[in-house]
Amino acid sequence: MKALVLSGGAGTRLRPITNTSAKQLVPVGNKPILEFGLEAIRDAGITDVGIIVGETHEEIRAHVGDGSRFGISATYVHQPQPLGLAHAVLTAEAFLGDDDFVMYLGDNLIVGGIAEFVEEFRTTRPAAQILLSPVGDPRQFGVAELGPNGDVTRLVEKPEDPQSDLALVGCYVFSARILEAAHAIKPSDRGELEITDAIQWLIDEGDTVRSHVIEGWWAARWKDTGKLYDLLEANRIVLESYEQRIDGHLDERSEVQGRVVIEEGAQLVNTFVRGPAIIGKGTRLVNTFVGPYTAIYHSCVIEDSEIEHSVVLEQTTIRDMRRLVDSLIGRNVEVGRTDRKPHAYRLMLGDHSKVGLV
Ligand code: G1P
Repeated sequence: MKALVLSGGAGTRLRPITNTSAKQLVPVGNKPILEFGLEAIRDAGITDVGIIVGETHEEIRAHVGDGSRFGISATYVHQPQPLGLAHAVLTAEAFLGDDDFVMYLGDNLIVGGIAEFVEEFRTTRPAAQILLSPVGDPRQFGVAELGPNGDVTRLVEKPEDPQSDLALVGCYVFSARILEAAHAIKPSDRGELEITDAIQWLIDEGDTVRSHVIEGWWAARWKDTGKLYDLLEANRIVLESYEQRIDGHLDERSEVQGRVVIEEGAQLVNTFVRGPAIIGKGTRLVNTFVGPYTAIYHSCVIEDSEIEHSVVLEQTTIRDMRRLVDSLIGRNVEVGRTDRKPHAYRLMLGDHSKVGLV
C-alpha cells in the first residue's frame, strides 16, 4: 500500500500567515501540522509516500526532504494548479500504479493516528473507505448520508441543505478503482474535480464504499486546520497530549506549572509558564507570563508581557504587551510599545492581517 499526501493549495483562509508559507507547515504544539500526518502514515506501516505539491513546493521539499527523517520515502508529484482532490489523484497516476493507497490531506490533524482505519481496509478490501466525523456546520465539508446498515448511500460536497452532520475527514483509503472514477467525473460548480464526486461515482457503479465514523473523543480531536479558530483548537488538542519536559534553563525566579515543555536552549528569566504550553528552542522569556494553550516557536524573544491561548511562530519579538489572547502571530514579527510622541498606534501589517485593539 502507498500513501498520497496533499500539500498544495494556497491556504487563503489562514492569510496573512500563508502569504509567505505553506499552510501544512504552520506548527501546532511547535510541530508543523504535516509531520503529524507523515508520522500517522508511517505508524500505519506505509513508507512509500507521494507528496502532491503546488506553488509552495520549495518550502515543502526543503522541510520533508527524502522523508527519511520521518521514516518514509518521499516522492514529489507536482500539481501545476489546484484543480481539486480527484485531479491531484490523476496527477499522481504514474506514482500510484495499481496499488491501494491512503490519501491524506496535509492540513488535517487526526490525533491518535490512522492505523486502525487502514487495517480495516486491509481486512475488508472495499473499493474505497472514508473517514467521517459529526460536525457543527456540515455545509463547509463533504457530507455523507448512511443507509440503515451503515453503508454510504450518498456524498455531497459542501451542501447548502445537509441531510446529515457527518463530514468527510481528510483521510481516505482507495483501491485503484478511484482512478477510473476520477477519469469519469466532470468538474464541479467551483471548477474542481471533487474526490467526493469520484466516490459517489463508485457508489453509483455498485462498488462497495465503507465508512468509519470517528466518535467520542476522536470526534472532538479531528479538526480541519484551514482556519484560525480551528488552528488554535488543534494547538490545544496537541498540547493536551504533552507531558512535562524541561530541556531549557529556568533562573531561580522562574516557575513552570503543569504540562509544560521547555525545549533545548530556551531561557526563562523571572517568568511563569502555566501549562499546557510549549516554549521553543532558543526562545528567551523575560518578566513574562505564558498562560495555558500557548505555543511559542523557536528563537523568539518575549519581555514584560502576558500571553495566553495563542500560537507564535519563529523569530518573533513581543515587548510590553498585556495581554495577548487568541492570537496567531507570524514569523519575524515585532509587537511592542514606544514612548514616542504622538502617543498613537503605529502599525505595519501585511495583506489580510487582522488586529483587535481595546
Ligand atoms: C476538502 C474536501 C471535503 C472534506 C475536507 C476535509 O475540502 O473536498 O470533502 O470534508 O477537505 O478537510 P476543502 O478543504 O477542499 O474545502
